[in-house]
Amino acid sequence: MNWRVRKNRLRLTSTDFNLAVKRLQHCVNQGRTDPMKIKTKTALLIAPIILCAGAALAADAAANWSQHCASCHGKDGSGITTMGKKLGVKDYRDAKVQAEFTDAKAAQLIKDGVAEGGKDKMKPFKDKLSDEEIKALVAYVRSLKK
Ligand code: HEC
Repeated sequence: MNWRVRKNRLRLTSTDFNLAVKRLQHCVNQGRTDPMKIKTKTALLIAPIILCAGAALAADAAANWSQHCASCHGKDGSGITTMGKKLGVKDYRDAKVQAEFTDAKAAQLIKDGVAEGGKDKMKPFKDKLSDEEIKALVAYVRSLKK
């Protein structure tokens, strides 16, 4: 990666920007607070990128939810859709329903799908969505709680 700080501005190509965001995201996911042992000044310059990446991730989750999940679970997570009613999806706005599964369980089900009697009720998404996207979707599902 090749970046320079010049006249208090951080110059990055979009490829480098994406790489930086990926690296930082990785570090954040590992719970590390000193990702690249960067100097304070550089850290101050990079902070907006991290915030921006976080916002981008949340936006991705909302877009992924609309695209892949809302047809059954509903935009609001209520499950009040034609498919949702047919398949008996639960209301994720309900705190009691939310308490029935852990984040890990939810991520695993999104990855591997939900089957009953040898039939897919919810298809596996592991080929369509990355681990990071799935993690963001779990957080999104949590945010649907009323
Ligand atoms: C074809 C319809 C369908 C689609 C599309 C779908 N689901 Fe599901 N989903 C279900 C059904 C049915 C269940 C099992 C019943 C339930 O728990 O609501 C389920 C269960 C879940 C659970 C587990 C809840 C628990 O009780 O453990 C989560 C979390 C979930 N879905 C999230 C998602 C996400 C995120 C997406 C999109 C990436 C998605 N679903 C797409 C039908 C669907």
